[in-house]
Amino acid sequence: MIVGVPPVCYFGMVFEFLSCCNLAALSVSCSCILPWSEKGTFYGLDLGGTNFRVLRVELGGQRSSFDRDVAQQAIPPRLMTGRSEDLFDFIASSLQHLVEKGNDSEQSPIIKELGFTFSFPVKQTSVSSGILIKWTKGFAITDMVGKEVAGVLQQTLARKGLNMQVAVLVNNTVGTLALGHYHDADTVAAVIIGTGTNACYWERTDAIIKCQGLLTTSGGMVVNMEWGNFWSSHMPRTSYDIELDAESPNPNDQGFEKMISGMYLGDIVRRVILRMSQESDVFGPVFSSLSVPFALGYASMTPLMAAMHEDDSPELTKVARILKDDLKIPDLPLKARKLVVKVCDVVARRAARLAAAGIVGILKKIGRDGSGCIRVGRTRSDTKMRRTVVAIEGSLYTQYTMFREYLHEALHEILGEDIAQHVILKVTEDGSGTGAALLAASHSSKSVDNVQ
Ligand code: GLC
Repeated sequence: MIVGVPPVCYFGMVFEFLSCCNLAALSVSCSCILPWSEKGTFYGLDLGGTNFRVLRVELGGQRSSFDRDVAQQAIPPRLMTGRSEDLFDFIASSLQHLVEKGNDSEQSPIIKELGFTFSFPVKQTSVSSGILIKWTKGFAITDMVGKEVAGVLQQTLARKGLNMQVAVLVNNTVGTLALGHYHDADTVAAVIIGTGTNACYWERTDAIIKCQGLLTTSGGMVVNMEWGNFWSSHMPRTSYDIELDAESPNPNDQGFEKMISGMYLGDIVRRVILRMSQESDVFGPVFSSLSVPFALGYASMTPLMAAMHEDDSPELTKVARILKDDLKIPDLPLKARKLVVKVCDVVARRAARLAAAGIVGILKKIGRDGSGCIRVGRTRSDTKMRRTVVAIEGSLYTQYTMFREYLHEALHEILGEDIAQHVILKVTEDGSGTGAALLAASHSSKSVDNVQ
């Protein structure tokens, strides 16, 4: 069984995160992420999970004033494992549709600027280019690995006759941080917990080992941690995690992500129920449907698991319906249904606590965990800590209430009430795509000097 993990284990992990922070796969200059005065129409393309978004952002020349138009589409699963040409054609067609809808002439001589949010591990080569290192989250388009991502998009746009320029290529965490910072200058980090999970944070350049000796105009950079690939011997890994990893398309990769994000949580629950039904008679016979990978879905917020977990009806009728319809297990007694809810609870709580440990790791790295605050009196409660905002996006956090509550509970437990009250997790709706469009605006007419 999955057992509760003592808090000390998470503390151990917080410290290991400190070294993870500096081993980031990439860092992008953030010197001009705030488009204070840009005007005009900018586009965002957001690819990275089960859904794909295209956005048009109208900037009015004043901070906090912009309109946006968003279109969202589910990515057909065949495109996630097929040829890069098909995926990029699909992306470009969706963009073309939005451009046409907005009466923005495709043939206009004015080049439109585009921010491309591509949320996979990328070796960033400039603010507007990067090479795909590997796929995550179930994508497996082999001909794309090692290619320059923005270049492939740029060629596809040209083929479709779209007069657009990829001005920035960013990870979804970086887009979220950009929008978070645009609205609230105290935003220092961004976290995504959806289909996958990751975080980025603002760091002084001299504190980034890879950038030592480098001159930048801002003195700081955004570090994309790719924390989904974090690994530690302190991680409370069970036989279910080990089996899930071994059977995944990317074994030995993204260990942290596979214990936290929406794509995998439902499948951990399924594996626990399967083992219970094999080793006891609590669920009656072993149902073959329980052996089907991802029988409980693999969407970004793991909706079936969340619905069972949050079923507050006395008879657990939602649990009964999901077990019957999706897992083909009819007529389970109430006692067994309660056990299913308990399994969901343990799996969700572990995930939320792991994510909280990651957030505290970042806060510690940048001195926002209370260790660097000013003491104004004699006791720990007489300290002054700077308001610290973490922008957060992803439906596991925004739509799965129990998950969110467990994450907050763990943050308070690790940081202590005095410090936790100064740390604000702020939902940044559509941050990844909108942030990319804002970054496109801020980089549109500027040359970029400081990208590693
Ligand atoms: C995966 C990707 C990462 C992304 C995260 C959240 O971990 O590798 O780039 O930020 O999912 O979508």
